[in-house]
Formats: sequence, structure tokens, C-alpha cells
Amino acid sequence: MSRLPAFATALAGLILGVVVILVLAAATLEADSRETGPGIAPVTDADFYDDGRPSSAKVALGQALFFDKLLSGNRNIACATCHHPRHASTDQVSLGLGTGASGLGLERTAGANQPVFGRVPRNSPALFNRGAREFATMFHDGRVEQDANGTWPSGFWTPAREQLPAGLDNVLAAQAMFPVLSSVEMAGHKGENEIADAVAANRLNEAWNLLAARLRTVPAYVALFRDAYREIATAEDISFVHAANAIAAFEATAFRADASPFDRYLRSGDTSVLGTPAERGMQLFYGKAGCSSCHSGPFQTDQAFHAVAMPQIGPGKGDGADESYWQETGFPVRLEDRGRYRVTYDSADLYKFRTPSLRNVELTGPWGHAGAYASLEAVVRHMLDPVASLDAYAIDQAILATPEAVIAISGSGATLRFDPVNPARLGDYRKRDGWVQATPALRGAIAAANELPSRALGDDEIDDLIAFLKALTDPTSRELDHLVPAAVPSGLPVAD
Ligand code: HEC
Ligand code: HEC
Repeated sequence: MSRLPAFATALAGLILGVVVILVLAAATLEADSRETGPGIAPVTDADFYDDGRPSSAKVALGQALFFDKLLSGNRNIACATCHHPRHASTDQVSLGLGTGASGLGLERTAGANQPVFGRVPRNSPALFNRGAREFATMFHDGRVEQDANGTWPSGFWTPAREQLPAGLDNVLAAQAMFPVLSSVEMAGHKGENEIADAVAANRLNEAWNLLAARLRTVPAYVALFRDAYREIATAEDISFVHAANAIAAFEATAFRADASPFDRYLRSGDTSVLGTPAERGMQLFYGKAGCSSCHSGPFQTDQAFHAVAMPQIGPGKGDGADESYWQETGFPVRLEDRGRYRVTYDSADLYKFRTPSLRNVELTGPWGHAGAYASLEAVVRHMLDPVASLDAYAIDQAILATPEAVIAISGSGATLRFDPVNPARLGDYRKRDGWVQATPALRGAIAAANELPSRALGDDEIDDLIAFLKALTDPTSRELDHLVPAAVPSGLPVAD
């Protein structure tokens, strides 16, 4: 009897010892994996819609639509204009020019006889890997979003609310319903065409139906739609939802990018595929530089919203109450962009933007939601000391065309007018580009919302971080010319 407790104690001691050893071993293993890598599962086909293999007929239709200016009210701009394969699925300027301008990328201009409706207020994001299921929100502020609660018949939270039709395959397809409604991007402004008029009257279904009606009149489109959809027998069966689903299938396929050195490392566990500087950079990224607290997961994004004091340039989204620009110039506009707050109206979301994926980030500049930074090093340095970088920011580093003719809003309600700006007033008009940055109260509000602490890194360490970011580049994304069709079914010039 008396020996049993002693034996039990010894056994317990032994078990405790083993447990301690196991815990220590696990801790060491964990420390090892923290030193050697992020512990992320490699990307597979199953991470993408249709398991990465949408129907090729749908993709072919989507490709034609993506490059066809027929989808714009004034037949002068396509999705590809701002998301061009030759420009890494963006337009490579800070803030682009929509309907009215001509040319692509840095060459896109609005000459004296080509009035544009101002600049697009945000940087055109790259579309890489947007066909991965984890991208559940679209736009820098996430205003198009999968709706888990079934609030709307469409299954998505969007600015169109109950007007968005059902039948959209996924959130990427839901997104494709919107650029065609944007006056500055594709629709044009009231009075220019019937699609813009329908949008101005908030008759969104009429606008989508008018676009579908255009597609129905092109026999080559009818053939492509019939190939892509069993339910389409005649032209009358074509809806814009079919178009949006096909565009999404094309985007998901064309811009999938998961063959970077980082992917090879995740698949093989062999850090040597990264090269030494990138390997050191990876340790910083997932370690003391603190990047992975937001840039987490296989695509380097937590898919959440954060305020990181990114400078705002350009016309903004008309938010806030500040009328200083209005008072000084007489143009009746406000110039702030309050980011996620625009969607939730929760003051905790002021100036928050979605953490961007860093896949192909080397190719996708300018960077930031307004494209404020034109160098990757500058934006990385911003992320290491956000408020100081915001305060020191000068707009001359942005890449902005100078439109020679612009249309401005006057009046409101029934008297709302869109008139060309008197050339003598263009100087005042252009002041809006740098207004937020130059106005201490507005810049200060962006700084005050910042949640990203600064971290001191040496220049060598910053070089290593950048080397790691470059290891996120899929080499096949450097050359996407093969995606540009020679012609589109409408016969309009392919997005130039
Ligand atoms: C005039 C330029 C322009 C045109 C034309 C345009 N886009 Fe965009 N696109 C943008 C900008 C700018 C944003 C970001 C807007 C925002 O966040 O408010 C964007 C956002 C997106 C996004 C969201 C990406 C993400 O990660 O959130 C997708 C997808 C997209 N566009 C696809 C399209 C498609 C499809 C078309 C054609 C139907 C199109 N775009 C036409 C400029 C353009
Ligand atoms: C608190 C979350 C957070 C942390 C930590 C963070 N980022 Fe970011 N990062 C963001 C957000 C949000 C944006 C977009 C901000 C905007 O556009 O307003 C961004 C933007 C970027 C961009 C520009 C990407 C683009 O496409 O425009 C780069 C590059 C970047 N971060 C790198 C880093 C690096 C490197 C680190 C670590 C030193 C880091 N980030 C740490 C949230 C974070």
C-alpha cells in the first residue's frame, strides 16, 4: 500500500517531465518555423472559384467584354483601359481618367476637346488573384461584399442594395456590375447618353438592361453568350448578369498569379528558391517589422480594414464637412475620402482601407488607395513610420496627367448641371489634387486615425524587405500581352 503513492508520484513526475520536454520541443519547433517562414499553406486550385477551372466559353466571352468599349455609355472606355494586362492589370498612374480621355496608362490624356469628369478618386487596383474565394470584399473600402446574412436577394451588400439582381456567381461578378454605372469611369454624365441618364435617375436595372440590349444587337456576342450559357437560346435571354459572371470568370483566370518564388518556397519548403536577401526580408516581414499582423495569409492580406495614414490626393469622395476648398475656389465640392467609414458609418472605421494583397506588388504601382507613392521603397518606408511619412509627403511624386478640359457640377436636384469648366478657372480646379494634404486639419484627421506604430529598421533591412516583396512576383505576370484580343465583337477599337 505504502509503495503505491511513491510509484504514482514517480510516474506523475515522469509524465510531467515528458510533457515539459514535449512542450519545449514544440516551442522550439514553433520558434524554428517562425525563423524560417510564415507557416502558410500553399495556394491550390481549390482556393479559387470553380476550383480554378471556369468554363473556357465563359472565359472567352468575359475576355471580349473586358476589352470592349461597348460597355461604356459613350462607347469610349473599357474595363481594360484601367486594368490593362500590359500595365499589370492597373493603369499605372496615381489616379486615372475615365470616360472622355484617350490613350492608356501614362499616355492617357484629356485634351482640349476631350472633357473628362475629373479624376477617378481612387487608384485603380490590380486584379491579381481576385478569383480566390478569400477576397470576400471588393474596392478599397469593401463596399461590395458577400452578404452572409441574406439581407438582400442578390446575396451581396452593395451600393445598389435591393436593385442588384440575383444570379451573380460571386463577389467578383457582383463588382463587375458597378464600373458601368460610374459616371466618371464608364457611364458618362447625365445628358450624354441614355445609360448615364438611367443611372442619374437611380434606375439601375434600366441601365443594365440598356447595356444588355446593346450586346443583343451584336451577332458575334449572341454566339458567344450561347456558347457560354446553356440557358441562353436567343438574344432576348441575355442579361447583364450573364455578362458580369463571364467577366469575373475571365478576370479570375487571366490574373491568377501563384507561381512566384514565394509560392515555390511554400510548396517545397526550400528557402533557397527565395535567395538570401529575400529570405532575410521574409523573416523581417513575419517577424520584427510587424507587417504580417495585417499582411497575413497566402495573399499577404487579412482582408480587413486598417488606418495607416496613407496620403490622400485627388478629388476624394466628397466626404466630411470641410468646405475650405469650396470657400476659396467657389467649386461646390468637399474633398475627403473617409474609406471604410463610408460603408459602416462607424467612427472606428474612419480612414480605414482594405489591406491590399502584396502579390505582384512590385508591378502594381503607384501604391496606396490614391496612388500617392510612385516608388515601392517610399511606400515601404511609409509603412515603417506612417505619420512622419504622411507629414513629409509631397504630391509632386504622384503620377498624374493634367486634363486640359474638365466638366464640373453645379446646382443640385432638378437644377443639377454638368458644364465644362471655364479654362480661366482650371488653376483653381486643379488645386483640389493636393488640397487634403495641404490642409492641416484634414491631414491631421488622417494622422489621428493611424493605428500602425512606427518601427525602426536599418537601410539594409529595408532593402531585404523589398527583396522579399519582389519574391512575391509571379514571373508570368510580367508579360500578359497574350490576353489582349486583336479585335472585339462590337468592332470598336480594342481598349487603347
Ligand atoms: C476609369 C478607370 C476604371 C475602369 C474603366 C474600370 N475600373 Fe475597375 N477599378 C477602378 C478603380 C479606381 C477601382 C477602385 C475603386 C474604389 O475602391 O473605390 C477599381 C476597382 C475594381 C475592382 C476591385 C478590385 C479589388 O480588389 O477590390 C475590380 C474587380 C475591378 N475594378 C474590375 C473592373 C471591371 C470588370 C471593369 C469593367 C466592367 C472595370 N473595373 C472598369 C478603375 C476602373
Ligand atoms: C496595421 C495593418 C498593417 C501593417 C502592420 C502593415 N500594413 Fe501595409 N498596408 C496596410 C493597409 C491598410 C494598406 C493600404 C492603405 C491605404 O491605401 O490607405 C497597406 C499598404 C501597403 C502597401 C501598398 C500596397 C498597394 O498595393 O498599394 C505596401 C507595399 C505595404 N503596405 C507593405 C507593408 C510592409 C512592408 C509592412 C511592414 C513593414 C506593412 N505593410 C505593414 C496595412 C498594414
